[in-house]
Amino acid sequence: MRKRWVILALWISILASVSFTGNNEEADHLRNIYSLNPGKWPAPFIDAGVPWNELGLLPESPVEKQKDSLKQLIELGKMLFFDTRLSSSGKISCATCHQPELNWTDGKEKSIGHEGAVNKRNSPSIQNSWFYNRLFWDGRSKDLQDQAFAPINSESEMHSEMHEVMQKLSRSKGYKEMFTNAFGDDEINPFLMTEAIATFEKTIISGTSRFDDFLAGDKKALTNSELRGLHLFRTKARCMNCHNGPLFSDNQFHNSGFSGGDAGYYNVTHKDTDKGKFKTPSLRDVARTGPWMHDGQFNDLGQIISRYSLAKFPPGEADALLQNLGLNNREQKDLLAFLKAISAAPRDFTKPILPQ
Ligand code: HEC
Ligand code: HEC
Repeated sequence: MRKRWVILALWISILASVSFTGNNEEADHLRNIYSLNPGKWPAPFIDAGVPWNELGLLPESPVEKQKDSLKQLIELGKMLFFDTRLSSSGKISCATCHQPELNWTDGKEKSIGHEGAVNKRNSPSIQNSWFYNRLFWDGRSKDLQDQAFAPINSESEMHSEMHEVMQKLSRSKGYKEMFTNAFGDDEINPFLMTEAIATFEKTIISGTSRFDDFLAGDKKALTNSELRGLHLFRTKARCMNCHNGPLFSDNQFHNSGFSGGDAGYYNVTHKDTDKGKFKTPSLRDVARTGPWMHDGQFNDLGQIISRYSLAKFPPGEADALLQNLGLNNREQKDLLAFLKAISAAPRDFTKPILPQ
């Protein structure tokens, strides 16, 4: 009887050590190949004809090099971004829905604007937004300056009349001075205001994630599970078909089966094939920007992964790039670990003191 127990225990320890070294070997192998230049990484599983870029460090924002010469303009934009005078109630600023400490989101399913009005959509982070070709979940805006007009007028956001905002700012001695410093003239108009806001927004970028540290040469920055997650993300889990490049977004529009009746990109193009499509959101800092999706329908990142993994989409309803992946529990955990490894705390930020 005793002998049997000894043999059983021996077997268990052999099996455990084999599977343990098996895991380590797999991760060691991944660590070695992913420590090479990304040009030498294993080819990602991407369907024929799909345009893509390798994952990587974010390039420098276009204003970074001009930070000194644009200093006054950036400072002005920062104040305007935090100023509740842009709203008719005097209670709401851009930062109400894009808060620095929440990675520039509001942490709500759908954001709340003028007099408690609930928005149709979730407030995205404005970090790295200079990198997008089009803005808003449905891409209805062509650039940051154009975008900044929208919330000021929107009934469910700041509910203001532009000429009233101009009057309020013009009454401020401090703003007159700031506009003069930035533009060489004390004229205040909507175009100059939105130019300042857009320039400020281009300085808002993600912090350095552990994946960034890994890319920069710190081989130990990722755990075994995160490395397996990176590999899955690029291969079997097929995420790279849409979430690719340094921002983890292809800058395209897709129907990933989460439209919830919102026509999305169709509102912009009026093409039937664009119904239910949304801009592929960046996944940088994603573990810190929930609730997720255009309408905040998920508040658990793990649930999103299991939906992607198990979903069987009726033909024609979602993007053909989405397939039933059948990821097992460990694979789903690894993928989640990777999403956390690409999430960094927001950069230190000092809120501006607003002019009288
Ligand atoms: C009441 C909350 C609220 C306020 C106030 C607000 N926003 Fe937003 N913001 C949102 C929501 C919600 C969206 C997404 C709307 C959509 O896509 O249809 C958004 C989208 C954006 C985007 C697009 C990001 C992307 O990835 O496409 C930018 C940039 C932005 N806002 C900047 C601003 C600026 C600048 C202001 C102030 C002038 C502002 N927001 C005021 C809620 C708000
Ligand atoms: C066919 C293109 C496509 C593929 C493939 C894809 N996604 Fe997405 N993903 C999108 C789009 C589009 C959205 C936004 C959908 C919406 O808001 O309704 C999104 C949203 C997300 C979000 C929510 C982000 C946020 O800020 O709200 C996460 C997390 C996510 N995807 C992770 C993944 C992972 C992990 C994979 C691989 C298993 C994957 N995606 C595969 C296109 C894709």
